[in-house]
Amino acid sequence: MKIATVGKGGSGKTTLAGILARILAETSNKMLAVDGDPNPNLALTLGISPEAADDICYIPPNIMQLAQGADGSRTLNMTLSEKEVIRRYAAHAPGGIDLLVMGKPADGSAGSGCMCASHRAVRGLITKMSGYSAHTITDMEAGLEHLKRGTARNVDLMLVVTEPYYRSLEAAARTWRLAAELDIQQIRVVANKVRNREDRAAITEFCQRHDMTIIGEVPQDEAFLEAERTARAPIDHAPDSPGVRAVRALASEIRALEATMNVNSTECV
Ligand SMILES: Nc1ncnc2c1ncn2[C@@H]1O[C@H](COP(=O)(O)OP(=O)(O)OP(=O)(O)O)[C@@H](O)[C@H]1O
Ligand SMILES: [Mg+2]
Repeated sequence: MKIATVGKGGSGKTTLAGILARILAETSNKMLAVDGDPNPNLALTLGISPEAADDICYIPPNIMQLAQGADGSRTLNMTLSEKEVIRRYAAHAPGGIDLLVMGKPADGSAGSGCMCASHRAVRGLITKMSGYSAHTITDMEAGLEHLKRGTARNVDLMLVVTEPYYRSLEAAARTWRLAAELDIQQIRVVANKVRNREDRAAITEFCQRHDMTIIGEVPQDEAFLEAERTARAPIDHAPDSPGVRAVRALASEIRALEATMNVNSTECV
């Protein structure tokens, strides 16, 4: 199943994607994680050391090529085999997780140059690499760019991560609407950084009003911040913290949902 984490800046997409990947990997022999943020930082939350993260080779944007058929139909083709993609570009995280990191245009940072090919590369990889492992988790950049460009079009489950405050929830609602327009098979909200009953009530009430379904809740967990201060993965730093335990419960919900889904149906366009 192809999962993506989306939502407002700072809501916890990367933190949750990293922990979730590690937990799902405990029961599968392979797991692919994709960092789809032009300012990547998924490596550390997966448990890759800062030194190893610095050495990661980004995926070249031209790894995917767009082909147009005589009838005008368009397909994306990977220019390397699955095995070669992993050999050349994957960084390895504990638990048998292979991480691929989105490249940037040749002329510089994420803020300059055309990002079209980079987004296309992520979109293509998510689908073309889906046979590589039982689960693929893609951590998306904040905002709606990946939805407007269709980068996240081929995922099966979109986890919209939100914090319990109005602007984060509003962003979640916009994200949900766009994801629904893209016909993403399953969209669910993850309530993150929940501190108390009031936070829970605010998210629940907002989601009910906007017809958005919550799949899990993760408390505000100081251990996540400590982990970040020491550049460690939260699951390595505090494997039994309330936040990590909540992500375990979230993973169980995802497995239960997966059992009801058809996850082999997406085309790569
Ligand atoms: N449940 C939580 N409890 C406490 N801190 C958290 C929690 N979830 C995330 N954080 C912290 O919030 C900050 C933002 O988290 P993270 O980087 O995962 O967000 P993001 O949505 O990926 O951000 P960006 O949009 O910049 O990519 C980090 O400092 C992280 O440690
Ligand atoms: Mg992030």
